[in-house]
Amino acid sequence: MWYLFCEQTTEDRFKQNFKVIFSFLYCLRFQHIYSLTGKNIVNNFERGICVKIFVLHGSMFGHTEVLGNAIADGAKQVDGCEVIYKSVEEVEPDELKDAVGIIWGSSGIFGEPNPKMATFFSKLGQLWFTGALQGKVGGVFATTSTQHGGVENICRALQTPMQHHGMVLVSNAGPVNADRAQYGNPYGATAVIPVETSQEAPMNKPNDTEMQIAREYGKLVATAALKLHQ
Ligand SMILES: Cc1cc2nc3c(=O)[nH]c(=O)nc-3n(C[C@H](O)[C@H](O)[C@H](O)COP(=O)(O)O)c2cc1C
Repeated sequence: MWYLFCEQTTEDRFKQNFKVIFSFLYCLRFQHIYSLTGKNIVNNFERGICVKIFVLHGSMFGHTEVLGNAIADGAKQVDGCEVIYKSVEEVEPDELKDAVGIIWGSSGIFGEPNPKMATFFSKLGQLWFTGALQGKVGGVFATTSTQHGGVENICRALQTPMQHHGMVLVSNAGPVNADRAQYGNPYGATAVIPVETSQEAPMNKPNDTEMQIAREYGKLVATAALKLHQ
């Protein structure tokens, strides 16, 4: 072996090294698409794909914020999506220009979105005028304290501004099963959270199934946004 090595000229050795390096780089090129098992081994972020999903809550006392958190968690599961979770009071309308998907939610006040949401909507005139949100993917979420307290109506009311802005709405599709029959909502992610019995009582939260459906919805909207973007 050593003899063979010594026999090689510098030019031979250079050629051989070049072949090895070239083969290595060639393999790397394909590694970006498939591993040997045929599975994608390079994630979207590594391939430079990163779209922004905004999840915005208009929560008065924290209940809707908890539900929104589950939606944001679900959206974060989608490879290639960066999720920004904020209150509608914290977000500057211009920030939404960067979004590919926007999911906003509110609690219900007598069957309508609460004043925080109304104030937020009133700031979106410039975005509408310039068509800045057109084509972005949208979803909604809502909470009330009673089963027939208007939670579906709030979802519908939250969708209307999205339609004015020319956004593409994602319904809350999922498996047809008992959980969704009881806690699902075709218009968005929702939770019916009973009012606390006293001011000292810990805050009531969405139940596990409502949280799970919210996570699934966040994932669904983010996936749709990513696909539409590509
Ligand atoms: C002024 C007011 C009106 C409300 N109206 C309704 C209602 O019509 N139906 C209902 O089920 N809950 C109603 N609620 C309860 C809230 O929608 C519910 O507690 C919600 O989960 C609060 O969420 P938040 O803490 O994120 O604001 C009302 C609450 C307030 C303060």
